[in-house]
Amino acid sequence: MCHTISMKYRNDFLWGASTAGHQVDGESADQWTVWEKANAERLALTAEKRLDWLPNWDTISRQASQPSNYLSGNGVGHQQRYTQDFDILTTLHMNAFRCGIEWSKLEPQEGSWDTDAIEYYRQYFNELKQRGITPIVTLWHWTMPVWFTDKGGFAKRKNLRYFERYVAKVAELFANDLSYVITLNEPNVYATFGYLNGEWPPQAKSPVLAVVAYHNLMLAHRRAYHILKAANPNIQVGIAAQLADMQPTKPGSILNKLSISISSWGWNWWFLNKIRGQQDFIGVNYYFTQYQDWLGRIRNPKTPVSDLGWYMEPAGISRLLTATWERYHTPLIVTENGLADSSDEQRRWWLEQTMPALEKAIESGVDMRGYLHWSLLDNFEWAYGWWPEFGLVHVDRSTMQRTIRPSALWLASYIEGHKQLDA
Ligand code: BGC
Repeated sequence: MCHTISMKYRNDFLWGASTAGHQVDGESADQWTVWEKANAERLALTAEKRLDWLPNWDTISRQASQPSNYLSGNGVGHQQRYTQDFDILTTLHMNAFRCGIEWSKLEPQEGSWDTDAIEYYRQYFNELKQRGITPIVTLWHWTMPVWFTDKGGFAKRKNLRYFERYVAKVAELFANDLSYVITLNEPNVYATFGYLNGEWPPQAKSPVLAVVAYHNLMLAHRRAYHILKAANPNIQVGIAAQLADMQPTKPGSILNKLSISISSWGWNWWFLNKIRGQQDFIGVNYYFTQYQDWLGRIRNPKTPVSDLGWYMEPAGISRLLTATWERYHTPLIVTENGLADSSDEQRRWWLEQTMPALEKAIESGVDMRGYLHWSLLDNFEWAYGWWPEFGLVHVDRSTMQRTIRPSALWLASYIEGHKQLDA
């Protein structure tokens, strides 16, 4: 492949892919497992009503109408096959991997730490280390022990002490082995779906609770930051933020620009503003460029869309990275970026658009430290279940066989080319 570029990625640039514990491991003593079991039937019965507008509804209708689609089960057997999955990272020339520690595995009962789980994570990080792959570890990706959510979870401020105790335990066990920790994944998405529109557990529909939970998560991050830094000042700590590249439908309209500023402040910047000074990097999860009119209504072009019907403008990442850098002057890592594309027809195009956009951001002065694609493997896509496939690697769940998709080979070759350039 020919690379005619003037910029260079840093020598220690983190090239990799992302996963989340529950999505690849499946069931555990967490609240999502309980919720899936209670809601699988309902989600299957209402699938047509909710999803028949999707362009590929005919292809997915059978799977989406079965309750089993909504159960995470044994995940993609990652717990049994993680060494194989790490070997795939090596094959793809990747040197970084975003993975999760599941709180519900470490502390399935309040105050008692599971020694098997501790040993499991120890070996897990060791296997990554042996391959020269840097783990970027998420401590909270929306899942929590049932005993914690039974107490009210993050909607109650006094429960923060339980999260702090969990973080302190992780710090005690692993602080010296880890260089990057993501305390929280997308608190804005969790507060919205869990507490505002009520689609996810705990299915509250309360703007007040949404604000309270969101605020408490912000406090939780701040406290976790200090606990981790006290244990190892060198650990780089941040959150993975769901940020949207919001664009006005009428760029010349002052009202439209004002409404974009308000939405961006609420969705993108509020949390990051509050944790200024308590983040060593910002993890950017980018999926969306979103066109909005002056009333905040989404008015995206009809095409191209992913299997989930999400409008795709991958090059928008460049604007978003630049805007984030200009606001915070804090190193950035793309901690998620990708699309649901089970036929792998659009993923290569997405990557071919994204990589020059990353280069553009770096050339304009953004301090980019890494790019982690979502996801390494097809995995459990929360309330949508199994049919959306985000993986660079396809997983056949009946055999758990992994197959590297052609788009992943394209990315691998891009990474290899740029590593050589930088050497
Ligand atoms: C989440 C992932 C999810 C992905 C695709 C992100 O918001 O962090 O868990 O699978 O989006 O929907």
